[in-house]
Amino acid sequence: MSGSAAEKYERFVASWFASWADELVTRADLQPGSTVLDLACGTGIVSRAAGPLLGPDGAIVAADLNTDMLAEARRHPVADAPIQWRRADAADLPFGAETFDAVLCQQGLQFFPDRAAAVGEIHRVLRPDGVAAVSVWRSAEHNPYIAALADGLGRHVSADARETMLAPCCLGDPDELRELFVDAGFSSVDVHAVTIEREPMDAIAAIGGNLAALPIADQITAMDPAARERLIDDIVDALADHIDNGRLTSPNRAHVALAKR
Ligand SMILES: C[S@@+](CC[C@H](N)C(=O)[O-])C[C@H]1O[C@@H](n2cnc3c(N)ncnc32)[C@H](O)[C@@H]1O
Repeated sequence: MSGSAAEKYERFVASWFASWADELVTRADLQPGSTVLDLACGTGIVSRAAGPLLGPDGAIVAADLNTDMLAEARRHPVADAPIQWRRADAADLPFGAETFDAVLCQQGLQFFPDRAAAVGEIHRVLRPDGVAAVSVWRSAEHNPYIAALADGLGRHVSADARETMLAPCCLGDPDELRELFVDAGFSSVDVHAVTIEREPMDAIAAIGGNLAALPIADQITAMDPAARERLIDDIVDALADHIDNGRLTSPNRAHVALAKR
C-alpha cells in the first residue's frame, strides 16, 4: 500500500473516526464564534467536524507533535472557521493562559508520555468557563475489532506487534481518566461510556487498510504473502459475529471525558 504513514492514516483511520469526531464536538456543545484547540489533531478530522459549528467568527488551532500528520492535515479543507495548524507537544503548549473556550482531544491522551502534564496544560489554556472534551478507547475487552487484530498480530507477527495494536486501549480505566482531570484542578468531570457501531464496510478492505496504517506496517508488508493471508483470515474468523456477507460492522467503545474548568 503506497503513501506516507500520515496519508494511510487519513485514508484508513480518519474515515472510521469521523462519526467519533461528530460525537465529540456535539458533546462539547461548541458555540458559534468560539475559539477551540484541537489537541493531537492528527490529520484534522475533529477540526473538520468543529468548523461548521464555530462559523467564520470562530477560530480553531489544531496542534500535533508529528509534522507529517500536520502536512497531511493541511491538504484537507476545514469548512467555515479559520484554522491555524501548529506543531506542539501536549505537555508544553505554546499558547497563553486562558486562550480557548474548548479543548478537544480525540484518541490522543493515552499516547502522551506525560498525561498529567498534558491535562495540566489543557487546564491552563482554557478560559475560566471553558470545557475539555477528550475521548480514549475503552479496554480491548470492550472493543472486539481491536482485540481481534491484536490477537491475530500476536499469533502471526509478534508479541510486540500485539502490544502495538493494544496501545490505543491503554487508558481504558474510567477512574484513571477522571482522576487526571480532577488532579489538574477541573471543577467538574463526567466520564461517559459511548458506543458507536461502525458503518458497514468490506471486511478485508477494513482489516487490510488498518494493518497498513499501523506503525508496524513495514513488518506486515515484509511478511510472506501466504502468511499475511493467514493473518487476515484469522482476524476475519475472529470477527465472524460482526461480518455479514463480507461486510464488517463492529461496536467501538470509548470513554468521553467532559471536564469543566
Ligand atoms: C490516534 S492519533 C489521533 C489523531 C486525531 N485526533 C484523530 O482523531 O484522528 C494520535 C495523535 O497524537 C499525536 N501525539 C502523540 N503524542 C503527542 C504529544 N506529546 N503532543 C501532541 N500530539 C501528540 C500523534 O502525532 C497522533 O497524530
